[in-house]
Amino acid sequence: MKISILGAAGSIGQALSLLLKLYLPKHYELLLYDIRPVINGITLDINHIPSDVEVRGFSGDNISSALINADIVIIAAGKPRKPGMKREDLFNINANIVINLTKQIALTSPNALIGIITNPINSTVVIAAEVLKQHGCYHKNKLFGITTLDIMRAKIFVSESKEKKLNNIHVPVIGGHSEKTILPLLSQIMDTNYNDKEIIKITERIQQAGSDVVNAKMGNGSATLSMGYAATCFCLSLVNALQGEENIVEFAYIEGDGKYAKFFVQPFILGKHGIQEHKNIGLLSIFEQTILDEIVHDINRDIFLGEDFVRKYFEKSNS
Ligand code: 2OP
Repeated sequence: MKISILGAAGSIGQALSLLLKLYLPKHYELLLYDIRPVINGITLDINHIPSDVEVRGFSGDNISSALINADIVIIAAGKPRKPGMKREDLFNINANIVINLTKQIALTSPNALIGIITNPINSTVVIAAEVLKQHGCYHKNKLFGITTLDIMRAKIFVSESKEKKLNNIHVPVIGGHSEKTILPLLSQIMDTNYNDKEIIKITERIQQAGSDVVNAKMGNGSATLSMGYAATCFCLSLVNALQGEENIVEFAYIEGDGKYAKFFVQPFILGKHGIQEHKNIGLLSIFEQTILDEIVHDINRDIFLGEDFVRKYFEKSNS
């Protein structure tokens, strides 16, 4: 089995690569790609860690060698936010990066499961879908925007606020992966009640958590270690599903049943070929339903931006 990390020399890519080197099952191969040749040094560095996972590095034009026969590809490349920026402010630069990388995936590993970390996820996943469609290899059950970090943050903040053990908490987080579109379903947490004021406070804390890290890092990047860990957890779910484990429930930004928006963070069951079954988001409180009604508009706008960008890109390159 092979996993390719594109953008592996970035801060998220390095954290993800390190954790996968440690946690992947034996005899997995990890293929690290970055446009920058420093990836060769990072690969050498990581290979001094004793584990049975073989790691190989590729840079520059040699991306196809990093993608041949990949079962899973993770796109971690792209620019991070600076203080004061929203994820959407990264659109132009990261949209082009995602187009170029997805083209390579389409040419070299069109059947791989693809996970996208690059922001703004609400649009970059759509961009990848459109590029794959252009190449005739879009499988909607195999493309995921990784939003596991929102669920991790929700779990931690709920645990802190209620002094509950982390293991006993699961908080579904649906919608998208930018500010207000991140919608934690606090009403679905077992044995936990919040008053209205607490609900607003903790919901906003979860929505703002990424910006809090960006601000606290003072211009030196966004969440990288927690994002690397979150992506590792998601990747391991994909690995386990590919190996035949059943009933793995995950949340990610996917093209689902379109009930709320064409792409939407929702729960699903993974199988050997990606998403096996969509799950219902369950009952919402009035507060959650009101936010959901508001954010569908924002998510649809982000989806349109992604589709429009790819349409114009191909119009320009065909003219
Ligand atoms: C986050 O902090 C990096 O988008 C990522 O949520």
